[in-house]
Formats: sequence, C-alpha cells, structure tokens
Amino acid sequence: MRVGADSSASKSSDKQGQRNARRDGEMSGDQARRTRLVPANNDTIAEAGAILRAGGLVAMPTETVYGLAADATSDSAVAAIYAAKQRPSFNPLIAHFANLISARREGEFGDAALALAKTFWPGPLTLVVPASPTCRVSLLARAGLDSLALRVPAHPVARALIEAAGSPLAAPSANRSGAISPTLASHVLADLDGRIAMILDAGPCRVGLESTILACLDGAPRLLRRGAITREQLEQRLGFSIADDSLGSEAAPLAPGRLLSHYAPRARLRLDAPRVEAGEAALDFGGVLAQGACLKRLDLSPRRDLAEAAANLFAFLRDLDATGVATIAVAPVPAHGLGAAILDRLRRAAAPRAP
Ligand code: TXA
Ligand code: MG
Repeated sequence: MRVGADSSASKSSDKQGQRNARRDGEMSGDQARRTRLVPANNDTIAEAGAILRAGGLVAMPTETVYGLAADATSDSAVAAIYAAKQRPSFNPLIAHFANLISARREGEFGDAALALAKTFWPGPLTLVVPASPTCRVSLLARAGLDSLALRVPAHPVARALIEAAGSPLAAPSANRSGAISPTLASHVLADLDGRIAMILDAGPCRVGLESTILACLDGAPRLLRRGAITREQLEQRLGFSIADDSLGSEAAPLAPGRLLSHYAPRARLRLDAPRVEAGEAALDFGGVLAQGACLKRLDLSPRRDLAEAAANLFAFLRDLDATGVATIAVAPVPAHGLGAAILDRLRRAAAPRAP
C-alpha cells in the first residue's frame, strides 16, 4: 500500500501545496469548497497521500476518533489545520507515525517512554517527550514548545496513510474546536464540510475516546489525559505509580489543550442523574434511566460494558444534542478503568462554557 515519497516531486509541489493550504485556510477556491467523502481503500488512500504531500487536509479514521491530518513538517499545512478547525493556535497537535523507529527520529525517548511505546504501540497512547534537536515537526504544530506529542495509531487506514504521505501527520480530532470529537465520517462532514479536501470513511472508531496522553519529560511521568490505556495499565508496565494531572485546570501549562469546556454540546448535561425528568433527554448506562418518560433515551451500554460505552459516547451525545433539548440527564458511570476516561469527557462536556 506504500506510495513512494519522492522528495523531488514533493519539493516541486511545495508551492502548489502552500497555495492549496492557503485556500483551505481561507475557504476560497474550488478545492476547499468541495469535501469528498470516500470509502477508505488502496486507491483513495493513495489519492489522500498525494493531497497530504501537496499540503492539503484529509480526515482519517483512527482506532480512537477521526483525525484531521496534514503533513506535520509543513508550517503551511499545519496552519491550514488550525484554520479549518478554528482552533486556538496555542494548542499543540499530536504527530502520528507509522512506527517507533520513525517516531524516535523526532522525539527523545527515555527509559519509561521507550518501555511504554514498545508495549502499547501501535495503539491509543500518546507520549509527550522532549523534541529531538533535529526534530522536523513544525514549531507551529508544537505550539512553540520544546516537547513533542507522538503516537503510532493502530488503525490500518491511518498507518497506510502515513506511509502514503511519506511524513509524520499532525492530526487533532477532526471536529470544530470545542465540539464533540467525531467517531463517524458523517460527524466529520457535519463539522468540516467545505473546509477540507477529503474524508476517508472506514466506519465507526473502535475505541471512541481520544488517546491517553502521558508526559515523559524530565522527572516522573505524568498523566495528562485519560483514555483507553488506563493509568493502571501504565503503572503495571512501569512498576511504579504515576501522577494524575489529567484533572488540571485549562490554565495548566503542560497541556494547553485541556480546555475545561471541551466537547461542548449545546444542551446542559446533568451528570450522575438517578432518574430522568420530563422534557429531558437521557444518556443512559445499564438501563437505570429506562423508567421516566423522556424525549429520547440512548443507552451507552445496556449490559454495562465500559468499552461499548466509550465507543458510543460521542455519537450518542451528538444525537441527543441534535434533538434541541435543553438538558440531557446522564446516568451514573462507574469510575474504574475506562469509566475514568468516560467520566472525564462527560465532566468536560458538562463544564461551563469558555466565554
Ligand atoms: O486519539 C487521539 O489522540 C486523537 C487522534 C486523531 O489521534 N487526536 C486528538 O488530538 O485527540 P487533539 O488535538 O484533539 O488533542 C491533543 C491533545 C491536546 O489536548 C494538546 O494540548 C495535547 O494533546 N498536546 C499536544 N502536544 C502536547 C505537548 N507537547 N505537551 C502537552 N500536551 C500536548
Ligand atoms: Mg480534540
């Protein structure tokens, strides 16, 4: 599936790429107005690789959520991501790699980071490490930091696309900034239609929550975002306990992206609801809200399976929010394992909105 990264071809297309990226950012020009939603296969992945090498934007499936990918080494391509998402430019992006060998060229892995990468990659774990002195990832993607967030995704389409692009891909979740992360190609289209060149559709994302983020800088590793790889799994591999910084305020300097009012639906969320009130919608777990009459009820997992609940979370939030209801009652979710990551996303979705 590999499409050769011909460096002379990519150089000669640089100017063109910058023009495309500018058009994406400015929302002018035919290419930016037409977003092609296509099934992911060898042909469309090769086409998407060419778009990326020319500086354009492609939404790709990963096992966590859909990502909005651009060549991580190109300032203009990365700038187009921020423009399409309307994302505050202080918020750094994760660079996605095909394997650990290429990741190690851009970041400096200490013992802990290396052990975790070898165990959990490819997979839903992002490691923040010091950027290497020769790091090619755009400073804009790193938001000027001297650290770098890296991940090797497990999804075969994401991996094939990185190979086809011939460079690491910067990819935030493919939603408008502050909106709910997309777990279906149709979510991406709803948020970014006309703003990006192509969406590769590979069906629903298996995990449904963004990757776990762990900072392995100087000193002890710190958890910056909860996700499918649980703190317990990380601690078990490392043999010592790690600090949990994932509940920090949005002002926490280490992870500028952890805005409190992230994943914001229009509706207010009433968490830990023992029952649903008339006129509300219900985001249920294990059928506890099945009794009351409500506008619409979706059960994250009737059999109380946390992996199933995580995979359904963002799609169900979008669905319930689309009813236009004022309040969504959310059933209690257990706080252990993957439940901790689900609760984290729910709390952020319920938090007061940033002005
Ligand atoms: O599962 C995922 O991680 C998805 C898929 C597409 O890979 N991506 C994703 O990206 O969730 P995004 O941009 O929505 O979230 C990335 C988070 C942000 O909160 C950002 O602040 C943090 O990673 N981050 C990136 N670089 C960082 C750095 N050098 N230090 C601390 N935090 C960093
Ligand atoms: Mg995001």
